[in-house]
Amino acid sequence: MRIAMIGTGYVGLVSGTCFSEFGIDVVCVDKDARKIELLHDNVMPIFEPGLDELVASNVEAGRLSFTTDLKAAVKGADAVFIAVGTPSRRGDGHADLSFVFAAAEEIADALDGYTVIVTKSTVPVGTGDEVEKVIRARRPDAEFDVVSNPEFLREGSAINDFLRPDRVVIGTESERARKVMKQLYRVLYLIETPIVFTSRRTSELIKYAGNTFLATKITFINEIADLCEAVGADVHDVARGIGLDGRIGKKFLHPGPGYGGSCFPKDTLALVRTARDSGAPLRIVETVVAVNDERKKKMAERVVTACGGSVAGKIIAVLGLTFKPNTDDMRDSPAIDLVAGLVAAGATVRAFDPEGMDEAKKLLPDGVVYCDDSYATMPGAEALVIVTEWNAFRALDPSRIKSLLAAPRVIDLRNVYEPAEMRDQGFDYRSIGRV
Ligand code: UDX
Repeated sequence: MRIAMIGTGYVGLVSGTCFSEFGIDVVCVDKDARKIELLHDNVMPIFEPGLDELVASNVEAGRLSFTTDLKAAVKGADAVFIAVGTPSRRGDGHADLSFVFAAAEEIADALDGYTVIVTKSTVPVGTGDEVEKVIRARRPDAEFDVVSNPEFLREGSAINDFLRPDRVVIGTESERARKVMKQLYRVLYLIETPIVFTSRRTSELIKYAGNTFLATKITFINEIADLCEAVGADVHDVARGIGLDGRIGKKFLHPGPGYGGSCFPKDTLALVRTARDSGAPLRIVETVVAVNDERKKKMAERVVTACGGSVAGKIIAVLGLTFKPNTDDMRDSPAIDLVAGLVAAGATVRAFDPEGMDEAKKLLPDGVVYCDDSYATMPGAEALVIVTEWNAFRALDPSRIKSLLAAPRVIDLRNVYEPAEMRDQGFDYRSIGRV
């Protein structure tokens, strides 16, 4: 089997590499010549644990290669995956599909024999129909099927999520395409991974419904956390107490500063727009989007309140800038609103993140001081704020923190420390949903 993967972002690069690990010949294509050059030198354009080793071993085995030449990659491929970005369209929040359609046109021109064209990018319901039309219009002669095969991998654990998924979803009405897809995922059949075959439209909706449900679950526990603070309860015990009910499930009940990242904010908003346009509004999801946006903005206020009502002229140490640990991704990170709010309130922010500093510099306001390590953020600071739960922050030495800060104050937006221990050490310690 041979496939072409169009787009070497998170989804494309990880999926392409993992398919080659399954023993399939994979050519990854990107328009960005610099990215392809870097990949030839085994330099990853993204930070993802284990990815460089997996790329190197599959390139070495001759199953994985990189090119800017889409035509050559598509020619003779059994399947072509579209894994380009679908960002939020400016102004209306709909998914911007211009990259998807541009890829479809280029693929159409290069088709050579029966080919399955697979949308792996997260695309709104009906996009498969549109992609089919675009290709048919350019190549009335071509033999092809368009299949939906959404990707559920998480940044930071992307390889494991791809190689050992909870399930694979494949949307197609064509028996011929179904056979090709079964062959591509043969390895997962062997380890008895459930494969959900359904219609193309249903498959497209499954991806949005999944992400939206998870975003809703997080937002629910975040609001319960606020309630815990108001009534004197512990959100972790609530999460455990409800999560042990198999109908609810334990995962995605960790409270925090609000969800971020490249998927949840954009996908929840896109689904809200699709639902409204279809005359079946999703009022719960509309509320989730509004509550989460507001929550991220309110985090700066929490810090200001903890500091006695003003941070003007004060130093605030901020640890963790990426939207979650083990990534360099800053997209829609809660740190963006938090730092902007603190700077607007007159604070000097001293920040550190193990992987996200380069991206952070592009997105955070001027005047933020970027430090070389965790402790370097702390001298003279009025408070230490933990925004992302990198493991390195769990291991910090409390007595050293205390000796560096101007006031022994820790605002832990990810609940990485134990309240009783922190108070015993003499900290004014505040976390989320615990008193
Ligand atoms: C998500 C989906 O999990 C994945 O299936 C989909 O393919 C892409 O979107 P990702 O964005 O990589 O993956 O990160 P994820 O681990 O899901 O976290 C998303 C956000 O939710 C982060 O900001 C994280 O901090 C937050 N989160 C997650 C919580 O606040 N609490 C939780 O319990 C879980």
